[in-house]
Amino acid sequence: MEQQMSMPRIGDIAPNFKAMTTFGSLDFHNYIDGKWSILFSHPADFTPVCTTEMSGFAQEKDFFDAHGTVLMGLSIDSIHSHIAWVNNVREKTNVLFNFPIIADIDMSVSKLYGMLQPGESETAAVRAVFFMDPSKKIRLIMYYPLNVGRNMDEIKRVLEALQTADANKCAMPLNWKKGDKVIVPPPKTMEELDTRLNSGLEMVDFYLAKRSL
Ligand code: BEZ
Repeated sequence: MEQQMSMPRIGDIAPNFKAMTTFGSLDFHNYIDGKWSILFSHPADFTPVCTTEMSGFAQEKDFFDAHGTVLMGLSIDSIHSHIAWVNNVREKTNVLFNFPIIADIDMSVSKLYGMLQPGESETAAVRAVFFMDPSKKIRLIMYYPLNVGRNMDEIKRVLEALQTADANKCAMPLNWKKGDKVIVPPPKTMEELDTRLNSGLEMVDFYLAKRSL
């Protein structure tokens, strides 16, 4: 049987590593300490879908700053390739990839994070996105194949959903977006149930109640 690669899971502390990036050598835990963070991989520099995605992250820098979130990209390309690509995109489109991109030439970080999925590609990372909270815990993971670009609205939506859920001790329903009502956690005791039934919350039944923030 083929050996399964171990992959970080939701709830794990993000594995640490040191890596060469377009911002110099970085220790991941130092870089993300005390902040929300997003680590994302792309298959290869100088490829079209990746260029649109990386430009998308760069163009949303103000959003990520406003949400206290730092970014870090990764691919299995050399630092020279990264520098040439970043410069090329800046020259052609005036968009600067304003976050560090890891040159994971020995694939050590890609392997650590399960970004190498051989059924999809032996030589390129899939399009992974890891969301970490300020305690460095992994809170959400996305994996996309090589031929489908990610959705920046969804990346922003889930970041806001995670932060809002933490701040308000609530959960988010289908298609939740900022400004929508949130789900109040279900009662765990009969006393909480009675309080809930008399609460005036918008309720389908006692276990599905919503409130505005
Ligand atoms: C792209 O980013 O366009 C791409 C990269 C690797 C494989 C297929 C597409």
